[in-house]
Amino acid sequence: MKIKVVSSTQQRAEAVARMVRESAPGLEVLSATGAPDDLVAAVNGSQPSLLVLDGLNQQGLDGLGALSGKHPELEAIVISPEPSPAFLLRAMQVGVRDVLPSADPVALQAAVQRISRKHAPAARGEVLAFMGCKGGSGATFLAANLAHVLSSREGLRVALLDLDLQFGDALLMLSDQRPASDVAEVARDIHRLDAELLRAAMVSVSPTLSVLAAPTELSQALEIKASDIEAIVKQARQVFDYVVLDVGRSIDPVSLQALDLAQQIYPVVQLSLPQLRDARRLRTLFQSLGYPPDKLQWLVNRYQKSTEIGLEAFEQAVGNKDLLTVPNHFASVSASVNQGVPIEKLARSSPVTRALLDLAQVIAPVEAGKKDKWFRSLFSH
Ligand SMILES: Nc1ncnc2c1ncn2[C@@H]1O[C@H](COP(=O)(O)OP(=O)(O)OP(=O)(O)O)[C@@H](O)[C@H]1O
Ligand SMILES: [Mg+2]
Repeated sequence: MKIKVVSSTQQRAEAVARMVRESAPGLEVLSATGAPDDLVAAVNGSQPSLLVLDGLNQQGLDGLGALSGKHPELEAIVISPEPSPAFLLRAMQVGVRDVLPSADPVALQAAVQRISRKHAPAARGEVLAFMGCKGGSGATFLAANLAHVLSSREGLRVALLDLDLQFGDALLMLSDQRPASDVAEVARDIHRLDAELLRAAMVSVSPTLSVLAAPTELSQALEIKASDIEAIVKQARQVFDYVVLDVGRSIDPVSLQALDLAQQIYPVVQLSLPQLRDARRLRTLFQSLGYPPDKLQWLVNRYQKSTEIGLEAFEQAVGNKDLLTVPNHFASVSASVNQGVPIEKLARSSPVTRALLDLAQVIAPVEAGKKDKWFRSLFSH
């Protein structure tokens, strides 16, 4: 999205442009100086989709009115200290989206994000569900970190929804931020759910990765219905390219709803006899639900060669030879989990990071040229 910032001095225009640039990835932000009443000259053929007009006066608003008469799709944000009621009315009449009293980065970036989302290309809306075969298989770690790896790819917007309603801890794997809201609160307000409400309920880990946390209280989990989950996932699909679900381990109407909505399910197992037994049970469940085999991609986590139960036993148990493995690497994984920092950030050369990057490459292939850059960055540490 192309944005032009106009202010009375170059220094001020650049300072505001820098704030705007940090609102979202992929914004093309130009800056210009111009008298507030000569917008046409300032816009000057660069055809932005959004104008950020710093210090615009009443005359300037008339100029904006004339400009947006010719370009009705042009959006505008105005920064104006102490705007009068007459100024606000005129701003509304000429279609200004926001009038901000100062160049406060938080308010400015939120206003830019609202508009840039409207102009964003349609979301891919693919749903990927992670489910542990047994407690501690690593489903949450893998879901959270795959979401992070995908969100580092150019142009991808990713949501992580923590649907392990009773014991969810997915946010803690990525961030120390406290969630302002959670799945239970969104469910309580489900009739008002839209893209803005969902976003406001999520923790923004980065401009391209948002997390909807599980409820903090166990009892709140019981109030959430399968139809709430359906509405939340469907809304998330409209605005995110990948919607990663941590489904937890319990089989109930909520988790079945989540699994139904997923294009791809990743059951996470480890090579042990109890897990082998549960993997068989899960396979039977998936069969009875009528899921086609290609909806399932079994992930063998903490994989190491020479264990008593080998990969072949698992291939037989789950009736699939295309198992993916994620190696066992205690040092890097426990550092990531205990610090709450994505493993890709903390330990780029960890074999676990590499396995996640490989999985992301299968899910969302990067073209050859870009991939070279990606590989170089992988080995630059
Ligand atoms: N590839 C790995 N190598 C080493 N340790 C790992 C790996 N994956 C996960 N772990 C360890 O396993 C622990 C449990 O992982 P996680 O919480 O993701 O499991 P889970 O399947 O979500 O469990 P729960 O059933 O409790 O939700 C992590 O805290 C981490 O220490
Ligand atoms: Mg978990």
